Amino acid sequence: MLENRRILLIVSGGIAAVKVPDLIRRLRERGASVRCILTKSGAEFVTPLTLASLSGEKVYQDLFSLTDEAEMGHIRLSREADIILVAPATANIMAKMAAGLADDLATTALLATDKPVMIAPAMNVMMWTHPATQANLQTLQSREVKVVGPSAGDLACGEVGNGRMAEVPEIIAALTRFFQKSEGQGPLTGLKAIVTSGPTHEPIDPVRYIANRSSGKQGHAVATALAHMGAQVTLVSGPTHEADPDGVKVVHVETARQMMKACSDALPADIVVAAAAVADWAPAVKDQKLKKGDAAAALNLSENPDILAALAQAGPTRPKLVVGFAAETTNLIESAKAKLTKKNCDWIVANDVSKGTGVFGGDTNTVHLVTAKGVEDWPTLSKRAVAERLAERIATALNPS
Ligand code: PMT
Repeated sequence: MLENRRILLIVSGGIAAVKVPDLIRRLRERGASVRCILTKSGAEFVTPLTLASLSGEKVYQDLFSLTDEAEMGHIRLSREADIILVAPATANIMAKMAAGLADDLATTALLATDKPVMIAPAMNVMMWTHPATQANLQTLQSREVKVVGPSAGDLACGEVGNGRMAEVPEIIAALTRFFQKSEGQGPLTGLKAIVTSGPTHEPIDPVRYIANRSSGKQGHAVATALAHMGAQVTLVSGPTHEADPDGVKVVHVETARQMMKACSDALPADIVVAAAAVADWAPAVKDQKLKKGDAAAALNLSENPDILAALAQAGPTRPKLVVGFAAETTNLIESAKAKLTKKNCDWIVANDVSKGTGVFGGDTNTVHLVTAKGVEDWPTLSKRAVAERLAERIATALNPS
């Protein structure tokens, strides 16, 4: 997807600039051509000679260079690219971009371009979370600037938090997705996904049932996000008030056993995301409405099949990536880790559903992505944003380009 793509790479001044040589190498390995603009502060971290050697092209640094302007004016420089990538993007360059400042070659090219722009922010966590930076980010996003990262972790300044520049494979994946999208394809095109969503209703008698408070918002959002990335999605949904997502095959079920059957029927698949709140038990169903005194008979429970565990069982039909959710009210991470192993999943999305969190039925979710590699804490996000971020991660895991 990156073959013959022309990337104008603007390197601004942050310690993450040391990752740029590797980025250039990987882009060129994939057939892209890379032309660099190096800002004055960027040159404190990486030399023009390094960038020129790796890109095989002249590195542009000055706005008022007669030779450069004669050879390749800054307007042409900004237009002769398929995309402009700013990596690392410091708080300073983001602020200048948001304000429309043009006081050096990099910012002038960014203002003069008619091409898409992607930024890979990198900075100290306080700078990243500062309302000014967040406001600039929103301004840039409202102008369709694409953003990759930052991620959380140890920062060069010694602090820990959000602000690390996305790793090179993530940037490559984001560029790949951008070009795929521009060609009407998604990173998950050609892959099949099964998503479970909503509660199950387990009948007690013709008029009563056992249920839970799941609304289906999270699971339906995951189905939508995967479909937007090109996956062929079967959404197996318990009873909800959510509309069927566009472009998704929806199988409506009521009970856990029906959900199990619908999921098995949808195999083979490449991806499973189990977001449904499946009832663990089902009563022995009575044909006639129970009388008041029949309380004991009402709760004659038997265990339901574990759909997630069944789909994740090793074997020829095991999907490539099986993602479960864990809804817990105590020991969130420990319980999620135990479920990861017990159910043979690849990832678990753990969410605290204690009273007061409003996760069941609400519009936001605070999740932790638990994998064999460790635990990633995500900030509180809308369920749609959780779904989009999860879909991005799935795409990166399945297309590790
Ligand atoms: O629907 P919303 O209102 O938007 O709320 C979202 C949610 C809280 C329901 C969702 O984010 C969530 O956490 N879903 C999983 C709920 C759950 O049942 O968790 P669990 O910890 O009991 O189950 C662990 C995993 O096993 C889940 O992926 C579940 O789908 C799966 N499971 C459980 C039991 C069973 N019999 N079969 C299953 O497949």
